[in-house]
Amino acid sequence: MLFPPDLLLPGPTPVPESVQRAMLTSMSDHRGSVFDPVRIRVLEKLQKIFHVGSDGAVAVLPASGTGMLEAVCQNFLRPGDRALAVTTGLFGQRFYEAAVSMEIAVDRLEVPWGDAFDVAQVLAKATEQSYRAVLVTHNETSTGVTNPVDRLATALSGATDAPLLIVDSISGVPSLPLFIDQPGIDVIVAASQKGFMCPPGLGLIAAGPRALSRLLKERQGRYYFDLNPYFHGHFPYTPAVSLWYGLDAALDLLIDEGEAERFARHQLLGEMARRFGEVAGWPPLAELGHGSATITSLKTPEGTTPQSIRQAAKERGLQIAGGLGPWANTAIRLGHVGAVSPQMLFASLAVLAHQLSNPADVLAEVFAIWHQS
Ligand SMILES: Cc1ncc(COP(=O)(O)O)c(C=O)c1O
Repeated sequence: MLFPPDLLLPGPTPVPESVQRAMLTSMSDHRGSVFDPVRIRVLEKLQKIFHVGSDGAVAVLPASGTGMLEAVCQNFLRPGDRALAVTTGLFGQRFYEAAVSMEIAVDRLEVPWGDAFDVAQVLAKATEQSYRAVLVTHNETSTGVTNPVDRLATALSGATDAPLLIVDSISGVPSLPLFIDQPGIDVIVAASQKGFMCPPGLGLIAAGPRALSRLLKERQGRYYFDLNPYFHGHFPYTPAVSLWYGLDAALDLLIDEGEAERFARHQLLGEMARRFGEVAGWPPLAELGHGSATITSLKTPEGTTPQSIRQAAKERGLQIAGGLGPWANTAIRLGHVGAVSPQMLFASLAVLAHQLSNPADVLAEVFAIWHQS
C-alpha cells in the first residue's frame, strides 16, 4: 500500500516517523550501560510531563491501559477496602469492574452517558463515609466527555483524611492538562498509544507523595504488577525495550512542542470536530461545555449507521471508530489525540464530508474555526 490509512481513532494513534525509527534501535542488555541512560532519560522526561517532583514517582510497565487500572487497584487497595468509583461511560465501568474483581468494596456513582460528573454530587458521596480511594475517569473515551477532575481534586483535597484520588487519564494526559502537583491529584494512569504517540504496550503511572505513602508494601494476590520496584526506577522483569526507545523519542517531541501549545492544539482539534458535527447534522453527544479535546462522539443521522459511515470512510482511506456499549448503533467517535495536526484533521473531515449533501458549507465552517484560532 502506497499510503497507510489516516487514523482518526481514539487509539492506537498515528506514530511519528522519529518514534518509529527509534523503535528500530538494536537490542541491548536492558540492565547494561547502553540502555541505562535511556531508562534514566525517559523517567526524567515523564516526571516533567506529569509534573512529578522529587517526592513523587513514575512507573512504566509493559501492559495496556487496562493492566494499569488493575495495577493501581492492587497497589493502593486491599480486598475489603472501601472505594468509590464514579462511572461516566464504558471506561469508568471498566475501572469499577477491575476493582470489584479484586474484591474491593466498591460503591458506584453512575452518571448517564454523555454527561460529565457533577463535582458537588461526587464530593457529597465521597465524604458520606470513609473511602480509601475515589476512582474516576478524566477523559471518558466512550462518550467524548472530559470530567472536571481538577475541580473535584481541589474540593477533595480540603477534606481531612481525604481518600486517594486515582485518575484514569488514558485518553487525557499529555494532551489535556492534568498534573501530579495539582492539589488533590494522587495517581494518574496513562498508556502509550494515545497522546504519547507510541504503539500500544506501555502503561504509565504517576504518583504523588500521599499516594506513595499509601502504596502497599505487602499484598496478597499481586506479583508482576507490584509497583514498588517500578516506582524506584527498577525493572523487576524484562522491559519492552523497543517501546522504551520509541517513548524516549516521543517525549522529545512532546517537550519540544511545549505544554501550552500541545493543550491549545488539542483544544482547537476538539472545536473543529464538534463544529463539523454541529453543521453536518451529526450532533456532538457530549454535554455542552464538557466536550473532549481528544475524542468527539457524534450522533449518526437517520438513515445511516455507524457501520455504514465507517465503511464509506474506510474506502477513502480513513479509519474512524464506532460508538460503544449503548451507543454502538447510534454514534461514531473521532479520535484527534497525539500526533494530529489541524491540517490532518481538516483533511480527514473532508473525507467524511463526502457523505454529506452540503460538504463545502460544512468544511467552510470548520475552516473558520481553524483560522480564527
Ligand atoms: C479512558 C480509558 N480507560 C481505559 C482504557 C483501556 O486501555 P487499553 O485498551 O489500553 O487496555 C482506554 C482505552 O481506550 C481508555 O480510553
